[in-house]
Amino acid sequence: MQSKNYKIVTVVGARPQFVKAAALSKAILFDGRLTEVIVHSGQHYDHNLSGSFFDELDIPPPKYNLGIGSASHNVQLAKFITAFDTILTDEAPDMVIVYGDTNTTAAAAIATAKRNIPLAHVEAGLREWNKAIPEEVNKLLTDAVTDLYFCPTQTGVDNLAKSGITANVHLTGDISLDLLYGENTKYISESELRAKYGLRDLYIFMTCHRDRNTVIKENLESILEAIKSLSYQVLLPLHPRTKKAIDTHELHHLIGDNLILVEPLPFWETQSLLKHSHLTITDSGGIIKEAYFHKTPSIIIDQQTEWLEAVHEGWATVVGPDKEAIIKEVTEIKRPQSHTQALGDGRCGVRIVEEVIRYLHKTLDVK
Ligand code: UD1
Repeated sequence: MQSKNYKIVTVVGARPQFVKAAALSKAILFDGRLTEVIVHSGQHYDHNLSGSFFDELDIPPPKYNLGIGSASHNVQLAKFITAFDTILTDEAPDMVIVYGDTNTTAAAAIATAKRNIPLAHVEAGLREWNKAIPEEVNKLLTDAVTDLYFCPTQTGVDNLAKSGITANVHLTGDISLDLLYGENTKYISESELRAKYGLRDLYIFMTCHRDRNTVIKENLESILEAIKSLSYQVLLPLHPRTKKAIDTHELHHLIGDNLILVEPLPFWETQSLLKHSHLTITDSGGIIKEAYFHKTPSIIIDQQTEWLEAVHEGWATVVGPDKEAIIKEVTEIKRPQSHTQALGDGRCGVRIVEEVIRYLHKTLDVK
């Protein structure tokens, strides 16, 4: 489709969004019909949670970094809405694109809607059906004011339909998987990983950082007790939030000899470790879908997940932060036979670019 060059503002702020923006930016550059301005909220600021991803994944540098930093959820939202409002005036974009369900996502969505600028949501329609989860509130707020919905799964499309949203809804697959389908040369070899981390035999790759698994002492305690009792080595890149929680709750005694704690890792090293692991224990949505891609089973230490396709095919199992359930699942886990690419086929970015241009052409040019 021929069209004029539209300006879009892409908003990122937290680690998983850098991965998603990397994939979409590549598709935008390849297509050539959109001009992208990247705005970084500054929600994540440590180099290994932020800057390193821009370097490693060749993301165009953000034109703005609003330096919001860590604060309570409402303070983060308020600071970002205020700062982002000025960017919207200065840049006057044709559309704003937000990703996922972080505080950055919800704040950008609210500010954009209040300025009556078209808003696209990548990873729309996902639900965990529990408003006690901070990300669930962000998902609900964002989808309530979105104009153009990009759903990673059919479940996302169905959830929107249940809320009466059926127009401008597109099933695209998951954007972060585009990177995995696209690049086969950046993996680190298994032998190199084993030597680097002293990994013997089968090992488990683990992540843990969700609000309820860090704020609630009993949950973190139960998770660490389960890990300590396993016969496998477990490699855990430690999110700063979890590191602080172990200190605050005084849980150092639960870190067993089999638990290898490392700093947050770069993207391709994470993918390589995940690919070669026996299984993953995680509360991260990103890891669940990446594990599915690598055909590595996931044990979810959370009460629910929005990646139901992985659960239905048997690649992911929800056990919650429950010591006995984690141990039982690790012991009994089986690799499923079927794998249907239900979370994406690597062409999500192309679909999004096409639909963004179609939408803007329809709403801005044809009046
Ligand atoms: C946020 C998202 C979560 C996403 C995760 C990815 C929300 C509500 N949550 O969680 O959905 O899965 O990012 O990592 O938006 N901190 C640092 N350095 C940093 C950033 C944070 O030390 O660069 C510490 C601070 O103590 C901060 C805490 O981590 O208070 C939590 O950070 P925050 O951005 O609020 O949420 P995440 O747990 O990272």
